[in-house]
This record gives sequence, structure tokens and C-alpha cells, in this order.
Amino acid sequence: MADPSALPTGPADAAGRLVLPAAARNRDPILGVLGPLLPASGLVLEIASGSGEHAVHFARALPGIVWQPSDPVAEARTSIAAWTAAERTPNVRPPLALDTAQWPWPLDRADAIVCINMIHISPWGATQGLMRGAGDLLPPGGVLYLYGPYLRAGMPTTEGNQAFDADLKRRNPAWGLRLLEDVAALAAEHGLRLEQVTEMPANNLSVVFRRS
Ligand SMILES: C[S@@+](CC[C@H](N)C(=O)[O-])C[C@H]1O[C@@H](n2cnc3c(N)ncnc32)[C@H](O)[C@@H]1O
Repeated sequence: MADPSALPTGPADAAGRLVLPAAARNRDPILGVLGPLLPASGLVLEIASGSGEHAVHFARALPGIVWQPSDPVAEARTSIAAWTAAERTPNVRPPLALDTAQWPWPLDRADAIVCINMIHISPWGATQGLMRGAGDLLPPGGVLYLYGPYLRAGMPTTEGNQAFDADLKRRNPAWGLRLLEDVAALAAEHGLRLEQVTEMPANNLSVVFRRS
């Protein structure tokens, strides 16, 4: 079961909307990398949508896309639905209860999959489930887009990321920054080829896999 404390937010507003301050900061840099990777039309599954702020922002910027948000935490799904209603984004579907570690998933296909800031704040089993699901749902050529902080083999880690890793492990020993090479090796087991790694603000990476 996903740990609700993985959703680091204050109280919801009267409509049920949560605010994750990082979402407002990273949504446009993410869109700059993600937008050109997506097809002009099709279904995009977002894993771990959190507050839903990314969902409404990306759906508005990409009107040909049907955006399918999801999160295992009920409070997050309430927030996603509330943001969608408030922003009147017709191309956002109602959120699904989807825990990557639980099989089967509640849908059987997606043209692309997006997962922002989940891998470090969940047990490794969540990443294993993510790769299994992406390998199963995506068509050949379909993109899995990840965003978040990673460790990289043979490369020094910033002090900020070291402190973040220690804090995550203190909050939950099963959490922590993952080695990008481990994530890529797992992805390869599910037919997902590492295609692109882009450095992003605040020591984050955009990581793009493509279904072979
Ligand atoms: C730090 S929040 C990120 C939310 C949003 N993607 C963002 O960047 O604003 C981490 C999210 O991962 C979700 N999560 C944790 N474990 C998960 C799992 N096993 N499957 C799917 N989502 C999970 C949490 O419910 C939470 O919404």
C-alpha cells in the first residue's frame, strides 16, 4: 500500500485542492522536454499525479491529448478531480486508483506514460511495478517519461541530493534516491530502452525510455 506521507502537502482548500509548491516551479521545464516527445493525439497515463496540478497544466498545453491521471492515495484523487473541475480542462479524465506495485492495473493501454517524482519516494517494488506496467501497456515506440532526482554511477552527487536522500531514508527506510543505471537495467528487462537523459533545474533529471 502506498504511504500517504509520500504526498508532501499542506491541507486541502475548501474544494479539496492540494498544492505541491514544486509543481508550479517544475511544470514548464518538464513540459519543454515532454511536449515534443508526445504524439499529437492519444492517451497519456500519468502515474502518481499527486495534487493534479501537473495534469491540468499539461492537458491545457496539449489539447490533442487525453490525460489520464492516477494516484493510489484517495486525498490525491480528490484533489486531481477538484483541480480538473476548477480549471475546466475537458481532456483530463477522472483519476484512477493506481498503485504501480499492485497488479493488474485498472487500464490496459496507453500511448505514453508519465511519472514525476515517485521513484525516490516509494519502495523499489513501486518502480518494479512501474516498469512491468509500462512494458505491458505501451505500444512499440511508446514513451515512458520519468522526472526526479537520481544517483548516477561514477558521478559525484550534489550535497543537496545527499541531504535529500538521507532525509527520505529517515522518513522511510524503503525510500531513497535510486541509481539511474539500476532503473535503466530494470526497464530493459521490460523492453524499455533508455533514449534520453536531460539535466533539469534543482538537480533533477528527465529520463526518457522508449518501448522497443
Ligand atoms: C512527491 S509526490 C509527487 C506528486 C506529483 N507527481 C508531483 O510531482 O507533484 C509522490 C507521489 O507518488 C505517489 N506514489 C507513491 N507510491 C506509489 C505507488 N506505488 N504507485 C503510484 N503512486 C505512488 C504518492 O501517492 C504521491 O502522490
